[in-house]
Amino acid sequence: MDYGLQDKVAVVTGAGSQIGFGKAIAVTLAKEGCSVVACDIDLEGAKQTAAEIEASGGKAMAIKTDVTKENEVQDLVKATIEKYGKIDIMVANAGHAFARGPFADQKEEDWDKDIGLNLKGVMLCAKAALPNMLERKYGKIIATSSGAAKRGAPGVEAYGAAKAGVGGFCKSLALSVASQGVNVNCVSPAIAVTNFIGGKMNPGVERMIEEIPQKRATVPQDVANLVTFLASDVSSHITAQMISVDGGSTTTQ
Ligand SMILES: NC(=O)c1ccc[n+]([C@@H]2O[C@H](COP(=O)([O-])OP(=O)(O)OC[C@H]3O[C@@H](n4cnc5c(N)ncnc54)[C@H](O)[C@@H]3O)[C@@H](O)[C@H]2O)c1
Repeated sequence: MDYGLQDKVAVVTGAGSQIGFGKAIAVTLAKEGCSVVACDIDLEGAKQTAAEIEASGGKAMAIKTDVTKENEVQDLVKATIEKYGKIDIMVANAGHAFARGPFADQKEEDWDKDIGLNLKGVMLCAKAALPNMLERKYGKIIATSSGAAKRGAPGVEAYGAAKAGVGGFCKSLALSVASQGVNVNCVSPAIAVTNFIGGKMNPGVERMIEEIPQKRATVPQDVANLVTFLASDVSSHITAQMISVDGGSTTTQ
């Protein structure tokens, strides 16, 4: 299928982790013809992702951005428009769970970090990208939520709340801009062996995988394939949705 993504411009946040969803999304969008801005708080990682895309003939640049800081996110979009002339696709993917473990022991500062990165970070990315999208009546905003939003996840309550917030935010924003050419959706993966869990399997993760009906973890390419579909006009009638890519872990009526 031709996704029609040739010459589209995409920003992908959290694209620096070499084993994460963001890199797979960036590489896949580039293969489909997008110019990609690989953004991360980890500049070296973002550079590595951009270099890999360019080495295989794609167009990419790397930018260091902390998505929790409005001025940095505004600068990210400004630099994207300066370099490529527009922004068609914003993938707000950067995220992490800071408050982990027994709820009573979780620190307020970690709750703030969870909400700041996972929820406010998505909001800032959407806010920065929207003016150019609305001006051109064209845009796709896609955020990475989590099964923690849909099913809940013990021990990461703030993360679950923030990711559920991402769903509510995307739904509301999608309705605000639905008649103006901008689609807003989020994706909800199951557990994946990325830096989110320290990059390696552990007994807790093995138990979580056992609970997935397909009996396998999510892999970055699963998420990249869904994001690419949502970034394209093939899915132009899909907006205001949280779509699971989780091997059957969550079902909707
Ligand atoms: N791995 C999982 O099990 C899982 C499951 C569901 C959802 N998610 C979500 O998927 C997304 C991608 O995570 P991943 O699994 O690829 O993890 P990862 O740790 O491999 O990648 C996350 C990336 O985000 C970057 N990042 C962190 N804070 C940032 C900030 N303030 N500004 C910019 N970049 C920042 C990190 O440097 C890293 O490169 C996250 O939103 C995560 O919450 C992960």
